[in-house]
Amino acid sequence: PTKLRVSQALSGADLGANVKVQGWVRSVRPQKANVFLHVNDGSSLQPLQVVAGAELNDPLLTFGSAVEVTGSLKKSPHKKQPVELEADQITVIGECNPVDFPFKIKERHGLEYIRQFPHLRCRTNAFSSLLRIRSEATTAVHSYFRENDFVQIHTPIITSNDCEGAGELFQVEPSGPEIVEDEYFFSVPAFLTVSGQLHLEVISGAFSRVYTFGPTFRAENSQSRRHLAEFYMVEAEISFTESIEDLTKVMEDMFKSATEHVLAHCVEDVDLFHKHVTPGHRDTVDAMMKSSFPVITYTEAVDILNRSSEKFTFPTDWGCDLKTEHEKYLVKHCGNAPVFVTDYPYDLKPFYARDNQDHPERTAAAVDLLVPGVGELCGGSLREERLDLLSARLEEAGLEDTYSWYLDLRRFGSVPHGGFGLGFERYLQCILGVDNIKDVIPFPRFSHSCLL
Ligand code: 4AD
Ligand code: MG
Repeated sequence: PTKLRVSQALSGADLGANVKVQGWVRSVRPQKANVFLHVNDGSSLQPLQVVAGAELNDPLLTFGSAVEVTGSLKKSPHKKQPVELEADQITVIGECNPVDFPFKIKERHGLEYIRQFPHLRCRTNAFSSLLRIRSEATTAVHSYFRENDFVQIHTPIITSNDCEGAGELFQVEPSGPEIVEDEYFFSVPAFLTVSGQLHLEVISGAFSRVYTFGPTFRAENSQSRRHLAEFYMVEAEISFTESIEDLTKVMEDMFKSATEHVLAHCVEDVDLFHKHVTPGHRDTVDAMMKSSFPVITYTEAVDILNRSSEKFTFPTDWGCDLKTEHEKYLVKHCGNAPVFVTDYPYDLKPFYARDNQDHPERTAAAVDLLVPGVGELCGGSLREERLDLLSARLEEAGLEDTYSWYLDLRRFGSVPHGGFGLGFERYLQCILGVDNIKDVIPFPRFSHSCLL
């Protein structure tokens, strides 16, 4: 027999063929003359229906058990499934005691419940759909950049710089007997990267359009629904960028292009979320796709917050950082659609942000994209390309030696440039309507939790 994945068997291309399918049992329905099984192997949300004579029934055929079925593919009389497998042999490869297995047949377990079993939750429909969507969204991001002439750069995971200057670093040192007291492994303190931006800036100085998509790390102590200690970031850096609008265009295009791809390629999996897990969210997604993302300045945002009747926990004076509650209010105020906020106070932004010298208040040419349900999805800026301004700021912070190589980029062929980073898990939360970031990553890491 030909070995087939469930998705291949369901395609109908092998009708009549003698095939072998391996997977996990999702349901068992014994009847007088027959037993019906649903078998899945992660290749599609829809399981393959297996029909067998009652003599092939086995008490070990339980929800969650692993099986191998051989037989022939037939056109199914049922509308819901195009194809079924008429079995002549069923072998239980791995038993699964239904009493101990945390997931029960026919029960729709919530995301919060299945999160307790990080080693088993991929066996549920919801989480297997999530993983397929996540994989397809990754492809979508790469396709967008490829189609738009960007070169992918593998920026390092271990680095000696703190790009964001927020001090949320994990330090990297070897463990074990090779540790030498008072000596750094790399001779300097080294950390897990918080952002690939500075390395992208190096390469954008020769390649114009570059991007990276990889894990980033932050020693965030928060237990929030939108922060992880390890998350994936999509970052782009573009030379000859003269205005924030050049950046917002790429951010909006990438968001829409990736989302369109996911909606078109993961119809069943996305439907599972939009119909059952996060019902009603499809309308929000459709509205986002139709909207032309509005742009407001930080100063306008602060005005909107101060004019509202909402009681905020955190202050909203000019110069204050925008918190999640503020971001969510702004998104609602703008019609529950994504909104760009630009020109933040200079002092709130890292050393690399470009000084808006022509503004009445001291602002930086930075931009955040805020989205429904999540708040900040992307952060970006024009970078300070003027040597005198950049070296003055670094000197003020006592960082001119640390970043002498970064200043070199302004000495040798400096050009106006800018870029942004998108939090990939927050992106998935946004398009699927998932409230907790821990439910959109296979193995979440956050403070006090590093399971598996
Ligand atoms: O706004 P951030 O800190 O920007 C940067 O790191 C820039 N250097 C990026 C760049 O310009 N190349 O982070 C970018 C995005 C945020 O908007 C947020 O979506 C996500 O990364 N993010 C997190 N996601 C999950 N958990 C965390 N702890 C996150 N911190 C940031
Ligand atoms: Mg940010």
